[in-house]
Amino acid sequence: MCCFIGEKVGTVANRDPIRVGVLFSKTGVTSTIGRSQIQGTLLAVDEINQTGGLDGREIIPVCYDARSSPAAYVTLSEQLILQDKVNVIFGCYMSSSRKAVLPIVEKWNKLLFYPTLYEGFEFSNNIIYTGAAPNQNSVQLAEFMTANFGASVYLIGSNYIYPYESNRIISDLVLQRPNSRKLGERYVTLDASEEDFQVIMADIRNKHPDFIFSTVVGDSTASLYRAYAESGLDPKTMPIASLTTSEAEISQMGADVALGHFTAAPYFQSINSEANKHFIERLSKRFGSASVPNMYGEAAYFQMHIYANAFRHAGDDEISRIMPYILGSEFEAPQGRVRIDPANHHTSLYPRIGVANSKGQFTIVREATRQVNPDPYMVTHSLGDWTATLSTLEL
Ligand code: ACM
Repeated sequence: MCCFIGEKVGTVANRDPIRVGVLFSKTGVTSTIGRSQIQGTLLAVDEINQTGGLDGREIIPVCYDARSSPAAYVTLSEQLILQDKVNVIFGCYMSSSRKAVLPIVEKWNKLLFYPTLYEGFEFSNNIIYTGAAPNQNSVQLAEFMTANFGASVYLIGSNYIYPYESNRIISDLVLQRPNSRKLGERYVTLDASEEDFQVIMADIRNKHPDFIFSTVVGDSTASLYRAYAESGLDPKTMPIASLTTSEAEISQMGADVALGHFTAAPYFQSINSEANKHFIERLSKRFGSASVPNMYGEAAYFQMHIYANAFRHAGDDEISRIMPYILGSEFEAPQGRVRIDPANHHTSLYPRIGVANSKGQFTIVREATRQVNPDPYMVTHSLGDWTATLSTLEL
């Protein structure tokens, strides 16, 4: 019998399930966000499997708890690759964990999808970055805060790489403004208590900046905002501005504590679109009251769909075969249509600025009118370059 290339005669479709690694933190100081990222990932896996999987092949997520520990990320990413035989890992929140996994995926030539905003200034052939780069959140936040509150800033961060680098970028941006000043820069441990922040609040009261820029992450975020609320400072005149505080941290600290503080992010639960309405409904149906939709879960969700669509084209998730179909691919995400930039493996996203309201949500006060392409090395980073892409809704 003659068989032409591409002809399926006599072949049996491959029905083997596809195992993928899911490596976030269900426990430890960043578990609130880790759980959101797991939920977004598993919701997308359910949707893909319920609609025929990857050409009939079911996705099996192999999940480990990295316990908010970079050392555990190293061990478990290697375990996923060497023992579980996955080609692709979806994972990491803190930049310290991504930095820990990066050499592992490079060594074994596997692929990491990373759904978290970060400090930029990185590229790996083995990573797809689906959270915001600094030109998609820091630039907009600096412009907004300096225009509305003034250009003297006090920086507080957790003690690791993302806060150091993100604070450097915000300082550079704010200090472009006339009459700008950096009045303080303090770092705390990842398990900092309310008492630790009370000492810093006393210093802030003395120095009286126009706004506070926070790169505090994890459970201590609630302690920071509580210490602020108890210090008698007023968000109307000296708010906290953040790139990391999402609806999930607000649900930990309480809406009254977060009220009036600002966050810049590509996704807020309050986005008024059909895609977002469906995302929130499905998340709530799948995870009930344990689900608090936020930017981290949304990126985890859409990146799994990007992977699945690329797999369907490639027929495989070996990195050299799937990568051409990931780069340049687009997806109608809850935040809007996103695209993986082939030049740098980061994602075109929609910068937005929200102010926390009495419902524990963000009222969106400014938003991009179109996608902003990622510029992870901040080649273009003058404040003025970006204002035209944002529309003011209300303040
Ligand atoms: C972060 O560490 N990239 C939030």
